[in-house]
Amino acid sequence: MAVDSFAGKLAVVTGGGSGIGRELVRQLAVQGCSVAACDLNAATVAETAAMARAAAVPEVRVTSHACDVADEAEVLRFRDELLDGHASDHVDLVFSNAGIGGGSSFVSGDRDEWERTFAIDWWGVYYCARVFLPLLIASSDGVLVNTSSVNGLWASLGPGVPQTAYSTAKFAVRGFSEALIEDLRVHAPHVRVAVVMPGHVGTDIIANSLRARGLPDPEHMSDAQLEELIPRDMQDGLIRAGMLGEDASADDLRQMLVSANADFRDKAPVSAAEAATTILDGVRSGTWRILIGEDATMIDAAVRAKPEAAYDYAELFGAAAEEPAAEQPAAGTPER
Ligand SMILES: NC(=O)c1ccc[n+]([C@@H]2O[C@H](COP(=O)([O-])OP(=O)(O)OC[C@H]3O[C@@H](n4cnc5c(N)ncnc54)[C@H](O)[C@@H]3O)[C@@H](O)[C@H]2O)c1
Repeated sequence: MAVDSFAGKLAVVTGGGSGIGRELVRQLAVQGCSVAACDLNAATVAETAAMARAAAVPEVRVTSHACDVADEAEVLRFRDELLDGHASDHVDLVFSNAGIGGGSSFVSGDRDEWERTFAIDWWGVYYCARVFLPLLIASSDGVLVNTSSVNGLWASLGPGVPQTAYSTAKFAVRGFSEALIEDLRVHAPHVRVAVVMPGHVGTDIIANSLRARGLPDPEHMSDAQLEELIPRDMQDGLIRAGMLGEDASADDLRQMLVSANADFRDKAPVSAAEAATTILDGVRSGTWRILIGEDATMIDAAVRAKPEAAYDYAELFGAAAEEPAAEQPAAGTPER
């Protein structure tokens, strides 16, 4: 079921304050689609809405809403606000895009961080589906677009870099989306679902993930916060990997986090704008599986070709790939 045009439709975008979500809002608005965008960060999503309005024709309505998608009551409030603001009884497109990185080690990591990551990345997608599916069913041809990750295909970032909470949530998002295909076919055939699996996309997700966990920007973190975020064993690993000097100070750790975010954003093979275009092209074409970037395509092919070797990195990637993933992430905040 392809979509000819987004013009005249109403879309919901979660995590619209930054990165891929911001670009989805902007590009949808340019294409004549009204948008209700939400974010944990009310100020950044308000900025997105202003940018999108400035680029759109006057009939397009773009609203911004504060909402924590991991809290069902907030998602319900977001729904009520947007139906009121757009004078609508249905929505046509839902982009469940909000997400954070974190919760790398189940064995040694902080439990609160693990559960906050899982809550946003899984329960956020689940609550949005619960709340918005009836409104997609009320549309003539609704599309639910859930964002997973290459970590929904492969639950690691490579040697020495566990990725447990994020991968668990992203596998759940992928499994849920695939399971909905048949459910919708049987019970709501005019609605479809697509799942997005990005590889490395240049965004501020490292810094935003720290904020979503209630931490200040790295420059303002206390020594104790740094020590908790990058515990001693992780620092030792970074020293062994040559990413941190032997006698690194707290300021070196702060600077490393700032650089890690900037590098993740600025040295990515795919920009947020390109990722959003790929997602919208995929939705338009009617595909249910939207991979973003050559790294995602490569990991998908490798894991499907050799499932038993998925975590035997040399065997999985062979000589063809010198590095297992596109890039190693920053300490404490890995995400793909
Ligand atoms: N950037 C990548 O390399 C990459 C790779 C794979 C998957 N993804 C996924 O793509 C999606 C978008 O990521 P991005 O890279 O654009 O990140 P981003 O940080 O630039 O944007 C995500 C936005 O979501 C918001 N957000 C976080 N928690 C929220 C919550 N509880 N409720 C509402 N909003 C919340 C953040 O404030 C931020 O504005 C995420 O689901 C992420 O996991 C990203």
